[in-house]
Amino acid sequence: MLIRIYKIFIFVLCIPSTLFILLELYQPQDSSGQPEQLSVGFSRRGTFITGNGINEHKGNVTDNDENNTQRKNQTTRETSSIFLDYQQVLKSSNFSMNQSVYISEVRPDKCDACFPQSSYIYKNDNLCSTNNSTTQVKLLIIITTAPHEMINRTALRKTWTSISNKNTGELRYVFVLGKHAKDQTRNTRALKEAKKHGDILIKDFMDVYENLTLKTMSGLKWASDFCSNAKYVMKTDIDIWVDTPKLLQLIDSFKIKNEILGKCIQNRISPIRNETSKYYVSPVQYPHLTYPLYCTGGPGYVTTMEVVKGIVRVSPNIPFFFFEDVYVGLCNEALGYKVRWMEGFKTFKVKLNVCWVKKRIIACHRLSPREMMKYWNTKCLK
Ligand SMILES: *[C@@H]1O[C@H](CO)[C@@H](O)[C@H](O)[C@H]1NC(C)=O
Ligand SMILES: *[C@@H]1O[C@H](CO)[C@@H](O)[C@H](O)[C@H]1NC(C)=O
Ligand SMILES: *[C@@H]1O[C@H](CO)[C@@H](O)[C@H](O)[C@H]1NC(C)=O
Ligand SMILES: *[C@@H]1O[C@H](CO)[C@@H](O)[C@H](O)[C@H]1NC(C)=O
Ligand SMILES: *[C@@H]1O[C@H](CO)[C@@H](O)[C@H](O)[C@H]1NC(C)=O
Ligand SMILES: *[C@@H]1O[C@H](CO)[C@@H](O)[C@H](O)[C@H]1NC(C)=O
Ligand SMILES: *[C@@H]1O[C@H](CO)[C@@H](O)[C@H](O)[C@H]1NC(C)=O
Ligand SMILES: *[C@@H]1O[C@H](CO)[C@@H](O)[C@H](O)[C@H]1NC(C)=O
Ligand SMILES: *[C@@H]1O[C@H](CO)[C@@H](O)[C@H](O)[C@H]1NC(C)=O
Ligand SMILES: *[C@@H]1O[C@H](CO)[C@@H](O)[C@H](O)[C@H]1NC(C)=O
Repeated sequence: MLIRIYKIFIFVLCIPSTLFILLELYQPQDSSGQPEQLSVGFSRRGTFITGNGINEHKGNVTDNDENNTQRKNQTTRETSSIFLDYQQVLKSSNFSMNQSVYISEVRPDKCDACFPQSSYIYKNDNLCSTNNSTTQVKLLIIITTAPHEMINRTALRKTWTSISNKNTGELRYVFVLGKHAKDQTRNTRALKEAKKHGDILIKDFMDVYENLTLKTMSGLKWASDFCSNAKYVMKTDIDIWVDTPKLLQLIDSFKIKNEILGKCIQNRISPIRNETSKYYVSPVQYPHLTYPLYCTGGPGYVTTMEVVKGIVRVSPNIPFFFFEDVYVGLCNEALGYKVRWMEGFKTFKVKLNVCWVKKRIIACHRLSPREMMKYWNTKCLK
């Protein structure tokens, strides 16, 4: 009998917790409360990154000889990065670590209208108009995508953006693109597509990964200028599944105040200072020990138009940073606003049956056009 109870106990205890971990419902908590110490973060592409180098590398760098490459191994370099903390540099004016880096090159926290601006190549000023009908625009979804991703945009038009009823309903959506550096035919085709569907915003910057921040900010700026009647705004990517009917139904219940909601980090994480990492950020690009609190760009985040307007208002004076979600976090922090982790936003594809996903997930990452169609067309029991 005892054994049976024990078994049931184990079952009850373990199965859900295993599931929780598998489904990433479990969120790592840092109990130390020390912002610099957090060692777990997730990249914007959904990969988990453990270890930020802060804890492991406590040695002092004494070697300033640039030629001595042998001694400049990973450990010593990481240590010197940490010593370049901009705040500390300014405080102590002590810059003996790397004489060849000019403080003026280090990303400042504020600037005077330094954020790059770009002009419009195509925009639809009527995208959010209601023409005096009683339908209000409840939610605008900004979708970042590249000029050549035509198939992907078509899939979204046929699936989760379709309830916008060609941008006349309470949901509106807009694709945001830059321009391809060399291939003019891609740009011509994108412009043609934009004119045909009226659901694309094209701006005059090079559409490259490093410019994602320009893309996101272009979308937010356009939203605050030309869609300010929308109550809520979501920013997402082209490969994200968004359960728009569910989001529309739930969004009021989130009671969003001065905050951003989504897959948000709950403790400040540190930039990756490992130079061999794909996510390496140099102290010149970002000198602080930790990032602000932010919500990951994929699956995307949700907020109010008021918050978007605030972000757009402060952004000209917040220097560019190439991780778009961190950049938005910096603006959000400058406003004194918060982030809130929300159930149902996943950085990865949940590989379970479609109805399970549709029941529990608001947004999840990395779905192909074919999968989008499958998800949208699968009818599930309530
Ligand atoms: C690094 O330098 C500081 C200040 O000079 C000193 O307090 C600390 O003990 C040193 N750490 C190591 C590991 O040598
Ligand atoms: C460092 O390398 C440069 C170029 O190879 C050389 O001219 C210079 O003398 C070296 N400096 C030291 C301190 O060895
Ligand atoms: C890197 O440098 C540290 C300190 O100088 C040394 O203890 C360590 O063995 C070095 N590692 C490698 C792989 O050279
Ligand atoms: C600069 O740093 C070195 C090493 O940590 C220390 O010995 C020195 O006193 C510092 N200078 C100032 C002006 O803080
Ligand atoms: C030291 O300065 C050089 C020259 O600006 C730079 O290339 C290098 O990345 C710097 N090292 C660190 C660790 O910042
Ligand atoms: C919508 O309503 C406003 C004020 O009620 C009016 O000025 C405007 O002309 C109307 N627009 C259309 C297209 O009917
Ligand atoms: C409002 O009118 C414009 C111009 O006629 C049209 O493009 C747009 O689709 C209309 N919007 C709605 C919601 O009917
Ligand atoms: C980003 O876009 C700007 C404006 O078109 C361009 O000058 C810059 O080179 C682009 N960045 C990269 C890394 O290509
Ligand atoms: C766009 O669609 C193509 C074709 O299905 C797919 O291979 C590609 O991964 C998609 N792009 C993104 C960013 O998901
Ligand atoms: C740096 O990253 C590489 C791979 O990106 C990894 O193999 C290496 O162990 C890392 N070094 C440290 C000190 O974390």
